[in-house]
Amino acid sequence: MSDSTAHPLDDPAASPFDIAAQAATDIARLSGVDQHDIALTLGSGWGRAAELIGETVATIPATDVTGFRPPALEGHVGSLRSIRTARDRHVLVIGARTHFYEGHGVRHVVHSVRTAAATGARTMVLTNGAGGIRPTWSPGQPVLIGDHINLTGASPLEGATFIDLTDLYSLRLRDLARRVDPTLDEGVYCQFRGPQYETPAEVRMAKTIGGHIVGMSTALEAIAARQAHMEVLGFSLITNMAAGIQSTPLSHQEVIDAGRAAEPVISDLLARVIGEL
Ligand code: HPA
Repeated sequence: MSDSTAHPLDDPAASPFDIAAQAATDIARLSGVDQHDIALTLGSGWGRAAELIGETVATIPATDVTGFRPPALEGHVGSLRSIRTARDRHVLVIGARTHFYEGHGVRHVVHSVRTAAATGARTMVLTNGAGGIRPTWSPGQPVLIGDHINLTGASPLEGATFIDLTDLYSLRLRDLARRVDPTLDEGVYCQFRGPQYETPAEVRMAKTIGGHIVGMSTALEAIAARQAHMEVLGFSLITNMAAGIQSTPLSHQEVIDAGRAAEPVISDLLARVIGEL
């Protein structure tokens, strides 16, 4: 490319899968781990799980890996970690998510998932902080994602790539998670573009069309994971009740605070689920 500031993923002639393969080579070189089995993306509130999953073999600044961007947001960790579990499984923990609302395009949003697949990971665990619609839920509660509604108008698939999304959020893995915590409820995740939170009318729409959780990530990543033939497990931490469900205004600080408060409990849950994978 002639422009030295251009990003490789922004070259329409470049294959995002080749760039992901290069990123996977970087990870193998920097971590000394040739192949990963499981990948885990940590959203708001889920950050401490990494320490509980196993022994950290390597921590890599995401910006040392081909195609990754620095995190846009305080409260998000910009690193990749390679962790070995007690059962000798290698987990790639992705603390560097690029959100669709950053405006860099979907290739950037799903690069970490494609990279995870290229490292060999067959299971993709996606976590996020999100707003809850179900009145029986309360902030601080983790829920399973049973399905999603992609309201971004975007897709990670390029060209006429037709992919089946039935059972996108693997029933087998949801059942496994429920064996670890039988109190886990589940719902349909609606991905909005953001970064503004939804209006109460948008939340009512989401509810009417079958949504229970509103957020700004995960659905596009899940589609990319399915394209890469990974088995997907998704968790939302309900950090707040969605706009109009709760009467007070939403704030990013509220989301961060709810994440911090819930972190020990949900990290422990996540580590136990990963231990069973
Ligand atoms: N809406 C969208 N994204 C979010 C929310 C919400 O209410 N809470 C945390 N992330």
